[in-house]
Amino acid sequence: MQKNHHEKVEKSVGLLGILTIVAISFGTLVQITPLMFMDETTQPIDGLKPYTALQMEGRDIFIREGCTNCHSQMIRPFRAEVERYGHYSVAGESVWEHPFLWGSKRTGPDLARVGERYSDDWHHAHLMDPRSVVPQSNMPAYPWLDKNVLDGKYTARKLEIFRGFGVPYTDEDIAGAADAVKGKTEMEALIAYLQSLGTALK
Ligand code: HEC
Repeated sequence: MQKNHHEKVEKSVGLLGILTIVAISFGTLVQITPLMFMDETTQPIDGLKPYTALQMEGRDIFIREGCTNCHSQMIRPFRAEVERYGHYSVAGESVWEHPFLWGSKRTGPDLARVGERYSDDWHHAHLMDPRSVVPQSNMPAYPWLDKNVLDGKYTARKLEIFRGFGVPYTDEDIAGAADAVKGKTEMEALIAYLQSLGTALK
């Protein structure tokens, strides 16, 4: 009788487990490794600018307040999305994001290209009380952002850490970071961040 090697694998849980891991690892490597060497996924797009000190503080407030729980920042290349939000997101826009905030939960609209779509005043009114500009909105209000004032204590350190990740901040950027945000409200920082989103891709 011919020996059935496959039967041996099927009847041994350990061997089946190990070979399954080998098969999955191989598939993963084949998919992911080339992405690490393609310019399209590792190089910033033309015109990409690092966050200013104020935008960087705004980004941290965006994370702290859990905006990511309801808003993605990733436009998929489908017609319905592109017509609603604009050009689909490309990897070169996110190379300086640490961590990226693509997300997948969309209770509210995607924000990847919300920058420059509304005025600063609109954002201010919306964040103070979303119902004042969008009557049917179920987004929470964030009035405390207008009262909390930034002291800039960690701003320079944040830029420095991002420089360590390869974001091209200059010594002057870092030296001026604390003064650039000191005295500004968290609201101003968050709006500065929102207005920058998705504006680099022309
Ligand atoms: C509970 C879910 C929820 C949370 C949390 C949330 N949002 Fe929203 N957001 C919504 C919904 C729903 C809308 C659509 C209605 C509206 O415009 O208010 C929206 C709309 C928006 C818009 C307008 C987008 C557009 O294209 O019209 C912006 C900007 C925005 N949110 C920013 C924020 C920020 C910043 C935070 C965190 C401080 C936040 N949201 C937190 C649900 C949420």
